[in-house]
Amino acid sequence: MSMSFGANLLRTFRVLGIGIFVLITFKFMFSKQILDCDTARPPMLTTSSLPLKTQEPFHFEGFTPVSVSLGANPAVLDRAMKAPGCQLPLLCAWSVATQVRDEEFLKTTATYHLFLRKQGDQKALDTGGSNFQHGPVGEQGLEVMRDRLNDLYEEKKLADLSLPLLSIPSNIHVIPMGAEPYFRRTLRDADMVLEGLWLAGVIPHHGSWLDFGGSHGRVTRVLASAFPQAEWHCSDPILDSIDWGKSNIQNVHFHQSEQDPPMSGFSSGQLDGVYAISIWSHYSEESALAWFHEMHRILKPGGILWFSTHGFQSINYGSLDGAVQKSHREEMLAALYLTGFFYFPMFGAKGDWHLSDGAQGTKWGFAAMTTEWLAARLLNVDRRWTLLYFGPGRNEKNQDVYVLRRT
Ligand SMILES: C[S@@+](CC[C@H](N)C(=O)[O-])C[C@H]1O[C@@H](n2cnc3c(N)ncnc32)[C@H](O)[C@@H]1O
Repeated sequence: MSMSFGANLLRTFRVLGIGIFVLITFKFMFSKQILDCDTARPPMLTTSSLPLKTQEPFHFEGFTPVSVSLGANPAVLDRAMKAPGCQLPLLCAWSVATQVRDEEFLKTTATYHLFLRKQGDQKALDTGGSNFQHGPVGEQGLEVMRDRLNDLYEEKKLADLSLPLLSIPSNIHVIPMGAEPYFRRTLRDADMVLEGLWLAGVIPHHGSWLDFGGSHGRVTRVLASAFPQAEWHCSDPILDSIDWGKSNIQNVHFHQSEQDPPMSGFSSGQLDGVYAISIWSHYSEESALAWFHEMHRILKPGGILWFSTHGFQSINYGSLDGAVQKSHREEMLAALYLTGFFYFPMFGAKGDWHLSDGAQGTKWGFAAMTTEWLAARLLNVDRRWTLLYFGPGRNEKNQDVYVLRRT
């Protein structure tokens, strides 16, 4: 009895010992795999020719908590209350992307640079006692400067800055702007691009830059006038926009681009940066990826891609009367949660601005993406891009802003 008890005990210990050995071996192998995976670093980034504020790899701008955002801005409460989808916390959380007030940034804006260039003309700058030559710019100062520059533009007093008053015929493409004057909104959009770049640590005052899908050169010409040391290009598939831009805007290089890649007008590694205001907000999933790859080709190593597109924040915005995606809100929400991408052929077969995509509107319509989709389908695939900055709702509290660096 005691013999067999002892033998059993011995057998138990042996089995336990083998078990523990097997467990430790497995744990070691398994954790080593994870460790290998974790330590597989992305390749070193090539330094760009662009001046960089910081080399920080990624700046994520999180959603502002509801209570804070609502408390901080009653206008936001008004809009958020209109959102019937408020049962979901994310939908209620307007990001309220507050504009950068950093004095250093304000002095890199197109508005400030154009204003400075008018400083010789003190009479033109007289804004009723405000003097911007001394003291800080301040966000309020920037708004006043935009008002003043808009007046000067409409009074045809910015021609010396290569910004003559343009009379744009109704057959030439211009984005819808609501009540805000054309030039004022354009100044804001130019500064919006600069703001995202600034938050990503990039200052585009030199190098060669492309406004991809830049229409008739609306934003391009403001940046070209503010930063004449850089080289500015504008591409768009609508021939009328490009031809009109060529005839009316002298300091921008215009290119008619193809609706699908490749872009014949640009050689590999030609550009320091590309920005695209509301372009990926239209591409189907396949086209979005194809165009990211094309941007990779035409950018220099270390080059920058700024783009804005719809995302979760647009669902909140889309609940507002008149928003283009209102009827597709639920479908869009489900698609973003399930797959990270949403597309519907908003323009149908006839196309946007009569520019049919040749595929029954299946390539260019209404699109939205999540950061997870971008990470899974682009950033993590072969590490050809690094995400430098993500700002939800930074384009008119609707589209998200992304800044990528080509590796
Ligand atoms: C929403 S508008 C934005 C225009 C311009 N970025 C702006 O802010 O004034 C979209 C622009 O994309 C252009 N576009 C249409 N199809 C395109 C395509 N397949 N690739 C690039 N741009 C396209 C349109 O002609 C139009 O100028």
